[in-house]
Amino acid sequence: MNTIIKKADAENINIDVINEAGAIIKRGGLVAFPTETVYGLGANGMDEEAASKIYAAKGRPSDNPLILHISDIKMLDGIVSDVPEAAKVLMDKFWPGPMTLVFRKRKEVPYGTTGGLDTVAVRFPSHKVALDIISSSGVPIAAPSANTSGRPSPTKASHVIEDMDGKVDMIVDGGEVGIGIESTIIDVTGDVPMILRPGYITKGMVEELVGPVLVDKVVTAKTVEEIGGDYKPKAPGMKYRHYAPKAELTMFDGNIENVVEEINRLSKEASDSGKSVGIIATEETKDRYNFGKVVSIGTRKDEASIARGLYGILRDFDTMDVDVIYSETFYDDDLGQAIMNRLIKAAGYRIVNV
Ligand code: TXA
Ligand code: MG
Repeated sequence: MNTIIKKADAENINIDVINEAGAIIKRGGLVAFPTETVYGLGANGMDEEAASKIYAAKGRPSDNPLILHISDIKMLDGIVSDVPEAAKVLMDKFWPGPMTLVFRKRKEVPYGTTGGLDTVAVRFPSHKVALDIISSSGVPIAAPSANTSGRPSPTKASHVIEDMDGKVDMIVDGGEVGIGIESTIIDVTGDVPMILRPGYITKGMVEELVGPVLVDKVVTAKTVEEIGGDYKPKAPGMKYRHYAPKAELTMFDGNIENVVEEINRLSKEASDSGKSVGIIATEETKDRYNFGKVVSIGTRKDEASIARGLYGILRDFDTMDVDVIYSETFYDDDLGQAIMNRLIKAAGYRIVNV
């Protein structure tokens, strides 16, 4: 397939590009486009056949449901059967924005989009290019992250091109995204809202509005044992090894002095045995590592900078051809919870306490 690649500037919208993308979606094709979190791979979410093409392009397991993206609150009526009170409060505050809510679905939403579930995940993004493409298509757009299944999510168009060129009808290049990790997913179908995937909207921000919420244990678990072998995460996608770089990633947790020392020791050992080492450091520590390819992910003074740097770094290490990657850990609260959740999964739960 020949993939059309066109630029779209959120500050200066080219309506021809938007309408071209909208028309492709409308006729059942695939378009990758930017959102404020990560790039999405979109298809008409109300058309089972169109949605099935997403699974093929990504190599995604068919039981992993898709998020429907809307550009107007009125579109919600056509896809969900009821809107609980807590959801209304959250929507009021965080939509449009990096929050996905799981509702009971209307029968018009095909099971091919929801992975066979009777619930549907909905997001109202704030990125102008995403909003305009959804409006132009006139349908809710089903869009997972625009990466090959298992690879880090794309935060710029070159990442999408790497994974999707030749597999989709169009890639809309809107530059680098602002947030860099996927939306917070909150299930509002139960008595108490439950966070299924952490993101930029933190637990604290949610609780401030709706009181105490639950958090799925796959989010907080530090070991595979804590989750338990037969536990089914509420967000099916959370069970897959995700965001994984090609090289084995290990994280080192503890006092930062000990972490730097241990990573230095192991990197020397690995270098001496002929292995190429990558190190995920921060602005604060990057000059303290003596071996390997040291990359700064961002500054500890601004967690958002770390979130933004995360997926790009994991992809960069793939092209740098390193054999092993060593990483520092980050505070496990607020946005740090989302960062650590992604990194722990990328590391396949390999965390060493030092
Ligand atoms: O920021 C984002 O959410 C990005 C951008 C493109 O909007 N999208 C994204 O989609 O991250 P994806 O497909 O990579 O992740 C969707 C997650 C998966 O873990 C999936 O299992 C979960 O949402 N999910 C979707 N529908 C669900 C449902 N009805 N119930 C529970 N989890 C659901
Ligand atoms: Mg994804």
